[in-house]
Amino acid sequence: TLLSTQLSGDQVIVVSNREPYIHERTADGIIVKRPASGLVTAVEPVMRACSGTWIAHGSGTADREVVDGRDRVRVPPGHEEYWLRRVWLTAEEEKGYYYGFANEGLWPLCHVAHVRPVFRESDWEAYRAVNQRFADAVVAEATGDDPVVLVQDYHFALLPAMIREKLPEATILTFWHIPWPNPESFGICPWRRELLQGMLGSTILGFHTRFHCKNFTETVDRYLEARIEHEHSTIAYREKETLVESYPISIEWPAPEQVERWGSIAQCRERVTARLGLPEDMCLAVGVDRFDYTKGILERLNAVERLLEKRPHLIGRFVFVQVAAPTRNSLDEYRNFQEHVQRVTDRINLRFERDGWRPVHLLAHHHEPHAVMELFRAADICVVTSLHDGMNLVCKEFVAARDDLQGVLVLSRFAGAVRELPEALIVNPYHVEETADALYSAATMPPGEQRERMASLRSTVHEYNVFRWAGRMLADAGRGRLRNRIEARV
Ligand code: F6P
Repeated sequence: TLLSTQLSGDQVIVVSNREPYIHERTADGIIVKRPASGLVTAVEPVMRACSGTWIAHGSGTADREVVDGRDRVRVPPGHEEYWLRRVWLTAEEEKGYYYGFANEGLWPLCHVAHVRPVFRESDWEAYRAVNQRFADAVVAEATGDDPVVLVQDYHFALLPAMIREKLPEATILTFWHIPWPNPESFGICPWRRELLQGMLGSTILGFHTRFHCKNFTETVDRYLEARIEHEHSTIAYREKETLVESYPISIEWPAPEQVERWGSIAQCRERVTARLGLPEDMCLAVGVDRFDYTKGILERLNAVERLLEKRPHLIGRFVFVQVAAPTRNSLDEYRNFQEHVQRVTDRINLRFERDGWRPVHLLAHHHEPHAVMELFRAADICVVTSLHDGMNLVCKEFVAARDDLQGVLVLSRFAGAVRELPEALIVNPYHVEETADALYSAATMPPGEQRERMASLRSTVHEYNVFRWAGRMLADAGRGRLRNRIEARV
């Protein structure tokens, strides 16, 4: 209701690289997969609520078959609430734009996680060309001259200015889902000015935190001739004004029927222990991430090892399950990282295993959302140790899963979510000793304290859910549109 009031009949177009539904061909026919993506988790419920069109890169082996000659398909499968239009990229385009510039350039550039960004001229060319292809798709989908376009993430820094050129009246809301670094760090990018100019085509530019807004504004101040109004959080560049604001992203709070479908906490625990062959009375810690070097998975394993060294009575009684969804596998940096994690896991298991028990279970394959929720409900501890993260929605999903008010969240101080979730046990993942001690505190926390912390975490995530994220952004956009209409009348 909130969203429909704010949009009041306006056309909404979302653009993201990752699509919300991936159709894969298997021996049993076509199956639909939900990607492991914080962006999709957050934007999909918003799209379901406000209908419209989602434009994304078609990435499944059977996507084309499902579209079947048409440009667009109604989704979600079986419910059909909005349009999904897929942009088909050639292998060459995907290599330069997605793997190259977006994920070997911008991803490490913005996360500053000690992986050197790589900038190739050919990747930049592909990035520019693919941004233009998505701009053309937006123009083709627009039914009037002033749609509301929601541009998602670092794959599309150039898109706002490209859309603005063809649709000057459009309201363009760009949300940057990853961190924005300081001007010195960002300044090593050879195309820093072009990226900033592209983003300043937006009407509103959103980041998760004030800190990232400040970094962005300082970066613009350093590299462009722009007028910055700190009081109003606006940047005026070439006659165009952009509001730079923080909008902490979140998740959809689960409805009671949803919670029922997950099964009781006891059932979830039983299913997980049976499936993984775990001892019954163990302390179960879980981590759920894309298999990415920014997530602090190695640091987490080191902390588990240290915990077992320091607290040997936990040997045989503490289990850590890491779900790691394969991601960006054709990049060396990812493959090397994933192999490294596997080696460390094997080493720790070899060192401590006994009588059929091993401390670390690394599940390096895709898990559908219900399987992740089952694991969260079965766990005593959820560990989120990102080295740097825009927000991180895994911690919010864990909190949403625990209607029994039990379970302890261990959370990195370098995830945007830490600002909203201070009742978690906060750690510096680079500090092994501190993280190991936090795991111990979590493992021994009395139920009363768990209840108190979890109740408070839940009330925050419940209230500041994804509809508030979208609602605040769209309310700001709505005010701007109204102002423009009033000015046009004068
Ligand atoms: O939320 C951050 C993000 O990088 C999204 O942009 C992306 O969809 C998601 O993580 C997963 O990454 P990928 O789409 O490259 O698999």
